[in-house]
Parts: sequence; C-alpha cells; structure tokens
Amino acid sequence: MKIVTVVGARPQFIKAAAVSRVLRKAHTEILVHTGQHYDANMSAVFFTELQIAHPDYALGVGSGTHGKQTGEMLEKIEAVLLKEKPDGVLVYGDTNSTLAAALAAAKLCIPVAHVEAGLRSFNRKMPEEQNRVLTDHLSTLLFTPTKTAGMHLQHEGITQGVHLVGDVMCDALYFYKELAEKNGSPWDQLENLFEQGPCIQKDWVLATIHRAENTAGEQNLMQILAAFEELPYPVIFPVHPRTKTLVAHLMEQQIYRNIRFIQPVGYLQMLWLAGHARTIITDSGGLQKEAYLLNVPCVTVREETEWVETIEEGWNRLAQANKKDLLQKFAQARPAQKHPPLYGNGHAAEKIVGLLSTLKES
Ligand code: UD1
Ligand code: UDP
Repeated sequence: MKIVTVVGARPQFIKAAAVSRVLRKAHTEILVHTGQHYDANMSAVFFTELQIAHPDYALGVGSGTHGKQTGEMLEKIEAVLLKEKPDGVLVYGDTNSTLAAALAAAKLCIPVAHVEAGLRSFNRKMPEEQNRVLTDHLSTLLFTPTKTAGMHLQHEGITQGVHLVGDVMCDALYFYKELAEKNGSPWDQLENLFEQGPCIQKDWVLATIHRAENTAGEQNLMQILAAFEELPYPVIFPVHPRTKTLVAHLMEQQIYRNIRFIQPVGYLQMLWLAGHARTIITDSGGLQKEAYLLNVPCVTVREETEWVETIEEGWNRLAQANKKDLLQKFAQARPAQKHPPLYGNGHAAEKIVGLLSTLKES
C-alpha cells in the first residue's frame, strides 16, 4: 500500500519517527513536511538524530495566521495527493498540519488515519481542540492512545474504525531512552539564550512553556517566571520560538537568577534532561506524558489537560499561570505510589501498521 504521511511540527517528527520505522517494512511511505516548524532546532535536528527519512515533499509553508497557514497547507497537500494517489493519509496529533492534511484527503475521498485520536480538553477556544475534533470526524481509522480517548469518540457518535493502540510517544521514549542515557550529560552542548543564568549540575527543574494562552501577552509568562525565580532548584528552560521574543522582552525589565534559558534541544538531550529532573513544569502535551513515563512529577500550567490519567494517578497537577498557585502545586508535586502502564507497552506502531492494511477494504 502507498501511505502519505503528513508532518509539520516538532512533536510530529518524534511520533512519525516511531511509526515510520515499522511502516516502511510493510508499506510504501511518502513523507510530506508542511514546513510549519522550520528552524533547525525545531525540525532538522529531529530528522538527523532520529534518522527520519528525508521528506519526499517539503512544502515550506512556514508561519502565519491560522487561516493563512492552514489554507496554504491545504492547497499544497491537495496537489501532492492528486499526484501520488495514495491508499491512505496518516496524520498525527492536533496541529494545523494535521487538520490541513485530513481535510485535503477527505475531500478527495482518500481515507484518513489519525494517530492520537479522541483526545479532548473540552476547551473549544484552543486551536488544537478545533483541529483534533475536526480531524477525528474526517477520519476512517482512529488510533486512540487511551481508553478515555475512545470514550470521547463514542460520546461524539464515532464508533467505527476506532482502535485502542497505545501511545506512539511511549514507543519513541522506550526506543530512544537508552540512547539518550548513553549519550550522557548534554551540558556542554546546550546553547544559552542569554549570558546570565545559574550554573546547573544537579537537581534542576525542567520547564517548557509555549501554549497560546501562556504566551499571548506578558502577564501569564511574567507570573510563571516569577514563580520559577522562587523555586528551591534552578530551572532549565528550553525556549520555544513562540516564547522567545516575550522572554527577551521580560529580560529587559528583570534579572532572572534562577532560570537558565536555552535554545530548544534535540529529543535525546530532552529525554536526558527530563529523566534526571526533580520536577517538570510545562504546558506541553508530550512532555506531560514523558514526565509520567520517566517517573518524574509534573506540574502543568494549564486550566485543563487531555492527559487526565496522569492527574488521576497523582503524578501531574494543574496549576494556574500565577505565582502563588504554581508554587503551591510545585510544593505538592512528588512521585505517587502507583505507576500503572497508562500509555501502552511501546508497541503502538506495530498495531497501527497492521491496521492500516484494512484501509484497502474500506
Ligand atoms: C504548534 C501547534 C501546537 C504544538 C506546537 C508544538 C498549532 C495550532 N499549534 O504550535 O499544537 O503544541 O506546534 O511545538 O498547530 N516559529 C519560529 N520557528 C519555527 C516555528 C515557529 O520562529 O520553526 C515561531 C513563529 O513566530 C510562529 C510561532 O513560532 O508564528 C508559532 O508557531 P506555530 O507553528 O504557528 O505554532 P506553535 O506555537 O509552534
Ligand atoms: N522537545 C524537544 N526539545 C525541546 C522541547 C521539547 O525535543 O527543546 C520534545 C519533548 O520531549 C516532546 C515533544 O518535543 O517529545 C513535545 O513537543 P512540544 O512541547 O513542542 O509540543 P506538544 O507536545 O505540546 O504538542
């Protein structure tokens, strides 16, 4: 079978790396990179490090408003699909690249297979929630990472083509963890964003912040950084490009002595930094799960999360973007007693690839 895979943003490269390795043994994969993420440390580093095949199509769409970005992707993906005439289109997660690919394929009556289907925050203001709801309703095969995700689909009347396969990020983590550990401490490779910052060798908190609600204006990020300043451990903060200008602006008003701002890092460095952190503070979807899988307590700076199991099991806590609440939640964050395998056994990719063969019959 011929499968067109569409990726565009950092977490999708990691997810696709896990699936592609297996997919290419059974099917022909045509890889499309929309260009949503394009900085070397947001894109190329993952292709090199995770040995992802060179994209067959690099659409070079880049940044823009949601409409412009999604629209341009839609047009360019449609052209690829008309040329390649695949048996199916494989999409990941909830970015604008996901929705554009799903919509382009569905309009051409090409079946869509959605990895990470059924996740819901129930916050329709989030662009990711809009993208995932629409993608799920356009999909023929829906690969859910958790039971909860399957229930959400059922509530929306989607019962056909839903398969609980586990989480492909879990596959990626299990596959690369040893390599990340072997590569050892990445300290000498970290690129500082600013000259100031604490010297860190042990006992750090790892933080990432990039959600629209935490970066749209100064207020939330200012509060978050104020909390980081008061933590009992230094904070290492790989800064997403969306957050960079705002951090630079805040640095003009304030000296942050407890935060080391660095450029985004590759996946292996990130796994190492996460696995050895005391606590992780983030608004990232992927990092919440990685914290759980690495047995590191997590504080999520959001009003809600799609990864509710991490909260239920006591490994993750939601915090508002204000100093007091964040410090309070940080003080409560500690490993919980139980640690069930919430996200599968690291073999989601095999299940996905097996099920893709059923597209021929649909
Ligand atoms: C996107 C996804 C989000 C995902 C995140 C992963 C959508 C709606 N959002 O958010 O779900 O969690 O990717 O990281 O698809 N920029 C650069 N260089 C780059 C990429 C982006 O400078 O290589 C800057 C641009 O100013 C751009 C901004 O970051 O406008 C935001 O990028 P965009 O891809 O639109 O959204 P993300 O915040 O990255
Ligand atoms: N990540 C990375 N380098 C970084 C920050 C994050 O490799 O500097 C990885 C992280 O470990 C996880 C994924 O990127 O695997 C999460 O991506 P992101 O937070 O951008 O998106 P989200 O998961 O929120 O959609």
